[in-house]
Amino acid sequence: MNTGLLRRYNKIASSWNGDAYASLRRDDMIPAIIKAAGISTLPREVKVLEAMCGTAKFGIAVKEAIEEYGKICALTLLDFSQAMLAQANIKAEKVCADVCEMPLPSENFDLVLTRFGIHDLAQEKQIFAIREVLRVLKEGGHYVLVAFCSSTKTQFYYNRIANLKDELAGNKNKEDRHFPTENEHITLLSDAGFKNIEVKKFFYSKIKLQGTGEMSDENGKLWADFISKIPNKIKKKMHIQKQANSNFEYDFPVTIFMAGK
Ligand SMILES: C[S@@+](CC[C@H](N)C(=O)[O-])C[C@H]1O[C@@H](n2cnc3c(N)ncnc32)[C@H](O)[C@@H]1O
Repeated sequence: MNTGLLRRYNKIASSWNGDAYASLRRDDMIPAIIKAAGISTLPREVKVLEAMCGTAKFGIAVKEAIEEYGKICALTLLDFSQAMLAQANIKAEKVCADVCEMPLPSENFDLVLTRFGIHDLAQEKQIFAIREVLRVLKEGGHYVLVAFCSSTKTQFYYNRIANLKDELAGNKNKEDRHFPTENEHITLLSDAGFKNIEVKKFFYSKIKLQGTGEMSDENGKLWADFISKIPNKIKKKMHIQKQANSNFEYDFPVTIFMAGK
């Protein structure tokens, strides 16, 4: 388990729902994601797991949408940060655990959701998480994975910006996080054993590099210095923009993957 990252999420849990992360979360896109996920085809009684749920904005919205269809929804929330789970504003089963070893029974859920989580795992661990999702799904169940998706050209820089931030903010142990490309996501899902993998390109999240106050001004400058030296062609692809006070913003493409068991 990445204890450095756990420290980070425990620190930022109380502000995760706030404005500092709003352009990253893009909660405004949740209704469109739910529509794409095809909730109307779910059974009358639905068991849903949100894995790497954070404050569970996505899972709560999915539960509400399912109930609007007149169905019954039991929601389970799983995250390795107790502080994040504490911010989830709903009475639900809350499980504090590593997504790579979920203490949950096999063949138990009709639907599993993950929004913005897989990139937090080291590359070699991502397959364990996806296999765990497959294990806890019922036969015929579905996985909706909403993920940042780099391209082969931009991947090195998206990864380096995030891992350098972790280092400079003191939230880094040995492991690097890894932002998979679209093809890497598809390979993960198919290698784990998922069928009928669908890809829907959707929207961008905007990451505000200095706006979240996660590091000292001095380290913020080192970070900004790395970003300012990224080749212009890549900066253009990532929509990196310099703001006032040496702050930067960039866009991260988000892709919705749907897969079945
Ligand atoms: C970027 S946040 C996204 C939170 C939420 N899914 C959302 O969309 O608002 C990633 C979440 O994954 C959790 N997380 C990271 N690594 C994890 C792991 N190995 N096992 C379980 N949860 C993990 C973090 O605590 C954090 O809440």
